[in-house]
Amino acid sequence: MNKDKLIIFDTTLRDGEQSPGASMTRDEKIRIARALELMKVDIIEAGFPIASDGDFESVKAVAKAIKDSTVCGLARAKQIDIERAGEAIRPANSGRIHTFLATSPIHMQHKLRMSPDQVVEAAVAAVRMARRYTDNIEFSPEDAGRSEPDFLCRVIEAVIAEGATTINIPDTVGYNLPHQFGSLIRDLIERVPNSDKAIFSVHCHNDLGLAVGNSLSAVLNGARQVECTINGLGERAGNASLEEIVMAVRTRQDVFDCDSGLDTTQIMNCSRLVSGITGFSVQPNKAIVGANAFAHESGIHQDGVLKARETYEIMRAQDVGWSTNKLVLGKHSGRSAFKSRMAELNFQFDSDGELNEVFSRFKTLADKKHDIFDEDLLALVNEASIENETIKLVSMRVCSETGGVPMATMTLSIDGTEQQAEATGDGPVDASFKAIEKLTAVGAELQLYSVNAITTGTDSQGEVTVRVEKNGQVVNGQGADTDIVIASAKSYINALNKVINHQGRTHPQLGNV
Ligand code: KIV
Ligand code: ZN
Repeated sequence: MNKDKLIIFDTTLRDGEQSPGASMTRDEKIRIARALELMKVDIIEAGFPIASDGDFESVKAVAKAIKDSTVCGLARAKQIDIERAGEAIRPANSGRIHTFLATSPIHMQHKLRMSPDQVVEAAVAAVRMARRYTDNIEFSPEDAGRSEPDFLCRVIEAVIAEGATTINIPDTVGYNLPHQFGSLIRDLIERVPNSDKAIFSVHCHNDLGLAVGNSLSAVLNGARQVECTINGLGERAGNASLEEIVMAVRTRQDVFDCDSGLDTTQIMNCSRLVSGITGFSVQPNKAIVGANAFAHESGIHQDGVLKARETYEIMRAQDVGWSTNKLVLGKHSGRSAFKSRMAELNFQFDSDGELNEVFSRFKTLADKKHDIFDEDLLALVNEASIENETIKLVSMRVCSETGGVPMATMTLSIDGTEQQAEATGDGPVDASFKAIEKLTAVGAELQLYSVNAITTGTDSQGEVTVRVEKNGQVVNGQGADTDIVIASAKSYINALNKVINHQGRTHPQLGNV
């Protein structure tokens, strides 16, 4: 039987970025977009161009860089938003404008202060405006999950008649239950007279932990596009998790009459990349991408899996990319082997200078660590995402002993001049950060500090993410090293360089007023 295509619309770079603290620079967005493209995601929502000049530039840069996936920009149902989104997606091979307007009584009355008739009129006008830029137009009745079905039918029929090609039904506040949301989707498809002219999509939030359940129920009832994010990142409790949806549909082909075209072996790469860049680590028991998702602890389970994997496993770890822990390069590997492995990992160097810099970091790592895995290589580029490094780590010495006060001596190059400072702290990381602050006086506030082991084994590199804030500007910094105190210092310096270069961002506010 020929199955329908389930379109995967990834909104990690837009709704995902709306998670407090999950800010991404333009270059980080491009790297995530390239990883999504490699995974064969159909549509990448790259941002909300009207929110800030930075968001506009990011969407435009992603539209330029991505060739195979459609690149989408979000716009309220307002002329100024639609013009900005249209401009941002102009360089794309295939571009989409996603425009939205709330349709629930509570939003129309309190937020928009618009009557239902005015909402229909504004929604239709927005789609008409968007058609000046593209034929690929998505319309979302925001808070559809709490809207009246009769009114939804009216709005949807009108926007399809005006040229909307995708109708996205958001459960904006994560209020729906799976059986109810599924029957809403079925109802809309059956009752809207021109529903056959558009693809029906869903966008579910996870406030009650039901985003994936609601999305799958919608797919069983006719939705053919799902909006989701890597690791379930997103506003408040997050969005539906891409990896869970894609693997549920793939694993239960006995139930679903559609499938995505995704290369699921790229899932782990995307998951690690997004958690490294945003600093949102993945809980160990998270489905599909958590460290324990394929680990069997109990003796009975281990025995069963050894006899026949299917006794306790419904998916193969390697099908979602867990087997990537393979040795790829070593101490004797040359520049061209390094460059070509990085290209296989979908990382292109912008210049020979950048290649040389990351290659020299690779050589330093290979001297310390015998086995270099793909994950180690990706961590090297995570660190190197700074264009102008004002502050560079020259050397550091940290003393930490039981009963003693930890002390750090830090030598940094600041604007090309070497300077040294000492500081004590509650622990070696605290002492190092204080010494760095003494030298740089950036005055940023540390908001998050997280450490992850990149691979397994005690010689694994520790990857540290820090988030700092200064004057409303929030940035994440990354650093990796086999010594986690050095990794911590590198990540802090990485973040401070971004603050100095103004690579952070303030969060855009969604809303229709
Ligand atoms: O949750 C929501 O309603 C949204 C819309 C912009 C689709 O993110
Ligand atoms: Zn949303």
